[in-house]
Amino acid sequence: MWRTRRTRRITVGQEQWTTVDEYFSAQLIGEDEVLSAALAAADRAGLPQIAVAPNQGKLLHLLARTAGAKRILEIGTLGGYSTIWLGRALPADGRLISLEIDPRHAEVARQNLELAGLGKQAEVRLGRAADTLAALDAEGVEPFDFYFIDADKVSNPDYVVWAIEHAHPGTLIVVDNVVRGGAVADADSTDPSVLGTRRLHDELAASDRVTATSVQTVGTKGYDGFTLIRVER
Ligand code: SAH
Ligand code: DHB
Ligand code: MG
Repeated sequence: MWRTRRTRRITVGQEQWTTVDEYFSAQLIGEDEVLSAALAAADRAGLPQIAVAPNQGKLLHLLARTAGAKRILEIGTLGGYSTIWLGRALPADGRLISLEIDPRHAEVARQNLELAGLGKQAEVRLGRAADTLAALDAEGVEPFDFYFIDADKVSNPDYVVWAIEHAHPGTLIVVDNVVRGGAVADADSTDPSVLGTRRLHDELAASDRVTATSVQTVGTKGYDGFTLIRVER
């Protein structure tokens, strides 16, 4: 028989991750009527509850401000929650474009951005991102300073390649949801989102134009993670 070790009971899991996220957000973010209203409008419209958590939104905001971003491109708008965090990072003459495939999502997001006072600075473009990116390219769009990529995970390698092609030294690219419940490390996976995420990492590993890292996270949204990429040349 083995001896029972008297250790302090440690609970690690979703309940604790949520409690800790709520503590951090209460301390460092607090009540934000605009953001709460944006989430409430998205809920009323029946949008999926998959926006970034408040503390993640604030991380995006801080990264965009630290990069001095004046031109931001987001792929995957949903109800505009992350869009508001990013839009608030812009200087008065800054601009944000967010790409969304679902007209209902785009409509909710446009209203939320208007109510957030970002109606003039932030624009939601409707369509498949593959098409709206091609249209931006055809317009001869100027490079962006900051990207948040958070749409269909299958296409992440394509979106990141496009972003690197439309960037300058110092451009930051954040890609959400890169852990896939841990399956990202499974070379035998046939899940399209896992394959897309692995192809993204292949692209980054092979590129001599970027410095990149991927980080696992836990929180109200469970176990996940993001990739941060700096374009060097
Ligand atoms: N960035 C948002 C969450 C985005 S959820 C936030 O954190 O608040 C992912 C969004 O990407 C959904 O609204 C979905 O409709 C959109 N999407 C999925 N596939 C897409 C595609 N091919 N092109 C553009 N948008 C797409
Ligand atoms: C899903 C998408 C997201 O962008 C996210 O952050 C969480 C979940 C999803 O499609 O389930
Ligand atoms: Mg996401």
